[in-house]
Amino acid sequence: MILAVIAVFNVNAILKLDEVSDDAIDVTVIGQQWWWEFRYDTDDDGVVDIITASQLVMPAGRDVRLQIQSRDVIHSFWIPALNGKKDAVPGRTHPLVLEAAEPGIYQGQCTEFCGLSHGVMRMQVKVLPPEEYDVWIDAMTTPPEQPTDELAKAGQDVFVQQCTSCHQVNGLEPGAEAPYGYARLPNPDYGEDVGSTLASKNAPNLTHLMMRDTFAGSLLDLYEGSSDFVETTVGSAEAVPSGEPAVNNLKRWLRNPEDVKPMNPENNQGMPDLGLSEQQIDELVAYLVTLK
Ligand code: CUA
Repeated sequence: MILAVIAVFNVNAILKLDEVSDDAIDVTVIGQQWWWEFRYDTDDDGVVDIITASQLVMPAGRDVRLQIQSRDVIHSFWIPALNGKKDAVPGRTHPLVLEAAEPGIYQGQCTEFCGLSHGVMRMQVKVLPPEEYDVWIDAMTTPPEQPTDELAKAGQDVFVQQCTSCHQVNGLEPGAEAPYGYARLPNPDYGEDVGSTLASKNAPNLTHLMMRDTFAGSLLDLYEGSSDFVETTVGSAEAVPSGEPAVNNLKRWLRNPEDVKPMNPENNQGMPDLGLSEQQIDELVAYLVTLK
């Protein structure tokens, strides 16, 4: 009898969690060893126009309908403050609805064992006030400024030569020659197809890297003084992060990624040590911090 009474409330609550309003935003979520990708079609024309990583951005007070997929093994997407967990399974798409009343940064963690760096496969949801969300969409669909200072220009060359076989800055292609063109839209087929059971060569789209607060699977901060990001902070969040870029974190990552988190780059799991010189690292970082 007691169970029957509890069941009424329980089933009601479960059904409510799956309800979606008409103005819901659709985001495709793709898990991979060991980070999360988020894809938006902001004008609903069937073409992906924003691809980002580590940080899912959404407006407060509006439903977001996630379609959760995986590129390699089973992961599980979980933002404890916003909803239950949902597995990301290769070859399948699992729906999950998130809604947050308050702006803030909500922490999450992959909750299905997925190999070496499972324990540090983090993600965040940045919830913005609705008008700030529009600012974010505008910024993310506008090309970043082409670099102007010499160090950053040299960094763009290094990026094209060393990084574009895995990473994408919309429009920059491997083998391209300076001056580089720019495509507004990301190429969603970059690397291998979603749903492949092979470990893929895909790496985060870096077109608007500095619009995020963290990188390397949300393990490192992109801005100085933001080291409290392991805590969920509710109350405010800004569309365009401010502050000094955490240059030392970027350099540390580029010097030896495996030193930051366990990976197996020989098997396309994680980022390889490219053997960059300190000069190349300085140039690359000067370029990367312009990607806003
Ligand atoms: Cu991905 Cu655990």
